Amino acid sequence: MKVIIADTYEQGASLAADIIEELVRNKPDCTLGLATGSSPVGMYKELARRCKEEGLDFSKVTSVNLDEYVGLEPTHDQSYRFFMNDNLFDHINIDKKNTYVAKGTGDIEANLKEFNEILDKADIDIQVLGVGPDGHLGFNEPGEALYDGAHKEVLDESTIDANTRFFASRDDVPRYAVTMGMGNIMRAKKLLMIINGNKEDAARQLLMNDRITTSCPATFMKLHRDAVVVIEKSLADKIGYKA
Ligand code: GLP
Repeated sequence: MKVIIADTYEQGASLAADIIEELVRNKPDCTLGLATGSSPVGMYKELARRCKEEGLDFSKVTSVNLDEYVGLEPTHDQSYRFFMNDNLFDHINIDKKNTYVAKGTGDIEANLKEFNEILDKADIDIQVLGVGPDGHLGFNEPGEALYDGAHKEVLDESTIDANTRFFASRDDVPRYAVTMGMGNIMRAKKLLMIINGNKEDAARQLLMNDRITTSCPATFMKLHRDAVVVIEKSLADKIGYKA
């Protein structure tokens, strides 16, 4: 695993954007695996700037997102489809027809079948990842077992707590989500994790020991041949990690 320590959130966003830019310039018709959350927002902002000001061209790019809440319409301002449009797709020249965010409403079994079919066909060149405070990737929550393909997850209480900040009240936070499985994530050619904020426990498990455990899905990053972690210096310092 390659670890890059960024002095600030903005520097991390720019370094992560460099990695995406290199791929998009070398392979204009690449497939990006994308993530939501506050961690990649700065990178998306920087990519939008590079598209507008420096001609970074997304017109042939395809994307597939990690996950979506069950029960939120794509027009809901906390749905991940809304998030992606608002933070990235509306600001770059990607063809929205080539972007896929799983549907969280309607017939969930049918939606999962479609999600799995899309994933079986997609050859993800790079998967962007944030990490939950409990170590989840996408919405693959810690547990006795992890899953290979796209599936429905019951969100952990700690995930509901962490995501309450985006909703009017805790009761409004969805209890279920659909997510890529760990297998889908691990089959991406490259993984790019952005980790900052209050993620000490997950960061420690990822960077400060050799264990790989289903009780911290983020530790599976260690098994990937081409994984890059961009960590903010303040978090690296907190856990005592040095390059
Ligand atoms: C949600 C998403 C995850 C994301 C996590 C962390 O739970 N499903 O994919 O990594 O939030 O979010 P943040 O980056 O805001 O801390």
